[in-house]
Amino acid sequence: RKRLQIGILGLGVVGTGVVEIVNQERKKIKQKTGVDLLITKALVRPGEDKSALAAAQGFQLVYDSKDITEDPDIDVVVEVMGKIHPAYEFITEALEQGKHVVTANKDLLAQKGTQLVQTAIENHVSLYYEASVAGGIPILRVLANSFVADEITEVLGIINGTTNYMLTQMVEQQMTYEDALAQAQALGFAESNPKNDVDGIDAAYKTVILTRFAYGLDIAIDDFVVKGIRGIDLEDIALAQSLGYEVKLIGLTKKVGEGIFAEVAPALVPKHHPLASIRNEFNGVFVRSRGIGQSMYYGPGAGSLPTATSVVTDLAVIAENQSDNKPAPQFCTYETKKAFANPND
Ligand code: HSE
Repeated sequence: RKRLQIGILGLGVVGTGVVEIVNQERKKIKQKTGVDLLITKALVRPGEDKSALAAAQGFQLVYDSKDITEDPDIDVVVEVMGKIHPAYEFITEALEQGKHVVTANKDLLAQKGTQLVQTAIENHVSLYYEASVAGGIPILRVLANSFVADEITEVLGIINGTTNYMLTQMVEQQMTYEDALAQAQALGFAESNPKNDVDGIDAAYKTVILTRFAYGLDIAIDDFVVKGIRGIDLEDIALAQSLGYEVKLIGLTKKVGEGIFAEVAPALVPKHHPLASIRNEFNGVFVRSRGIGQSMYYGPGAGSLPTATSVVTDLAVIAENQSDNKPAPQFCTYETKKAFANPND
């Protein structure tokens, strides 16, 4: 194919970013892959006025997902609506209709990833979700491809931009917890329900996905301890600072025998540790592995353009795959082996 027609489900913070990045980078992607990316339709909620954007970019607004998932001309569906339902049903339908899918939906990939990958395989299409973990860092591609000759033993991550932004503002500006959260929401970092950010649930979903990519093992969010930053105040932070620590919300997944120890919790990170230097909405993923030893991956973890850029990179990889006469590749060919988190608890 020389052209991929794209339908977008959702035109919120990430969806509008995807439109902008495709528009900006289309020519370069065509030069690299020989394939033109063309957004033809976008699903919006009734009453959501995106007509100016649609007119300027030359795509059609639709109000029924089937206008995208059942459109025979659409090759790739981008899902950036968030939440499990109805995103799960829409993506399943798109895959069953033989469309590749790109999504940024960590809630969905953490909870229904195994089923969705199976549906993609059965329908000979690709499912990519680089933007679901650490928005602007290509961490899943790194774990899936760059550790093929290595063995990962531990992943420690600051993987929620909202809480890291809040903690940074509380340290550097003495901003209160409430003001810092309001600011993170205004900047478009927070989830539509910020409870998922502050209670560690968003980081837990990402920990599940990281576990899958690091070890090829499936764990469930209910199997491990998840604590957020609610209740941490300026006094706690001042005390930690005075003792030489930064307070950071850390997602940990560590190989223990045949199982996994996983946890999401606020931790005292010594100031000399590389994760201590990660500020604001930036994320950092620190990997321990047998061959490389220690490595860290750093970049913005939230926000419209960083996240949208990762979505469009997935689109470019799908464009590139078009030139191979091979079956549609999958992102991570992990075993569907169920592991129990924290086997010794
Ligand atoms: N709310 C998420 C965060 C967005 O703050 O990290 C990116 O997944």
